[in-house]
Amino acid sequence: MMMAVAGSAVGLGNIWRFPFLAGQNGGAAFLIIYLALVLLVGLPLVLSEFTIGRAAKMGPIKAFEVLAPRTKWKGVGYLNVLVGFVLMGFYSVVAGWTLRFLVDSVAGGFEGMSAAQISDSFTSFTSSVWQPVIYAIFFLAVSALIVARGVEKGIEKFNKVLMPALFVMLILLCVNSFTLDGWDEGMTFLFSPDWSAVTGQTIIDALGQVFLTLSVGMGVLITYSSYVVGDDNMARSKGIVSIIDTSVAILAGVAIFPAVFTFGLEPAEGPALVFLTLPNVFAQLPGGYFLAILFFAMLAIAAITSAISIMEMLTAIFIEQFNITRRRAVTIISVMIGVLAVMCAASSQVFEFFDTLSANYLLTIGGLLIAIFTGWVFNRKQLYDTFTSDGRYATAIYPVFLFAVRFIAPVGIAFIILAELGII
Ligand code: PHE
Repeated sequence: MMMAVAGSAVGLGNIWRFPFLAGQNGGAAFLIIYLALVLLVGLPLVLSEFTIGRAAKMGPIKAFEVLAPRTKWKGVGYLNVLVGFVLMGFYSVVAGWTLRFLVDSVAGGFEGMSAAQISDSFTSFTSSVWQPVIYAIFFLAVSALIVARGVEKGIEKFNKVLMPALFVMLILLCVNSFTLDGWDEGMTFLFSPDWSAVTGQTIIDALGQVFLTLSVGMGVLITYSSYVVGDDNMARSKGIVSIIDTSVAILAGVAIFPAVFTFGLEPAEGPALVFLTLPNVFAQLPGGYFLAILFFAMLAIAAITSAISIMEMLTAIFIEQFNITRRRAVTIISVMIGVLAVMCAASSQVFEFFDTLSANYLLTIGGLLIAIFTGWVFNRKQLYDTFTSDGRYATAIYPVFLFAVRFIAPVGIAFIILAELGII
């Protein structure tokens, strides 16, 4: 299960979303705030979701019914469903871009293309309505097929190969970055903070990114942990997943920013950043043809392992709530997401609205509620027993976790949301 969780965490959020947000928010300052929030808010919430799922052995809505019967807490599960759909709407569109770049790489690569040509071809692709839609739907169909077969079959093995391969690939790209003219500038941008670039928006963006990248705040981890049989040292394995996830984001930054400066691109380019930057690197690299294919294939697969975790969460809920078969649940869910994806592909405003709505609002509110639930509502003895596997593991970390989940995470999130809404 650990690999499936890592597969859910590592996705487009790390390689596509992190660099473009860091680029828009002054680089290093964003990175530092993001790292602090991973530790103070993200990790305690990951552990909360795991404890909830493990104790209840149910998907999000039913899990809250089991742990807090006859209360309104199951509303958190409904919120999770809403985020799942909204997030998948834009996520499948970006995953579709990845597939398109994979096809482009196979068809001839980016050899001999200038930065301007790469940018033109991206713009003409995304501004044609049907092409992005077709790729997004193809992506959804593949994810749906996997979820219909059941997450446990095969996915674990798949992730075991993919994760290390993606890691190695990113390291290669980082080594290559070192040879680029823009290395110094890129590194300064990513690692030496310019605090003047920090605004309230930077902080809310960083918080949203923490939730999105760790797959937390929407019940996906509740669902995955409800499948785990036996117990493990949760604090340790989830700590490792968070470290892997964060390292992938930083490596993506090191792979991308030196190239951004080398090829005269803008760090604040927005959602197209990775797609405009890396093809330039591949275009001038010996063996770039194969590396481009490899990279976009791995990115697509990383996107799939994340998408299926969201679809699995929705599927588990649909099965539990409506008593329908897995296949039927998957079909209904995919069609609904397909409609949202078409809307995102057709309009960049809808796309950006869905992105911000899910990461900066719905996930953060979901996370706030999960923190309050775990810290203040969850039966304390059951919480301790589940978290530590009856006193076997991580007993020393438990008090720290409890403090974080009772005070630091809820106060921190509430503060950031209120500031975002302009109330304080
Ligand atoms: N964590 C995934 C990523 O970084 C996205 C995701 C979000 C997956 C929420 C599941 C739940 O790409």
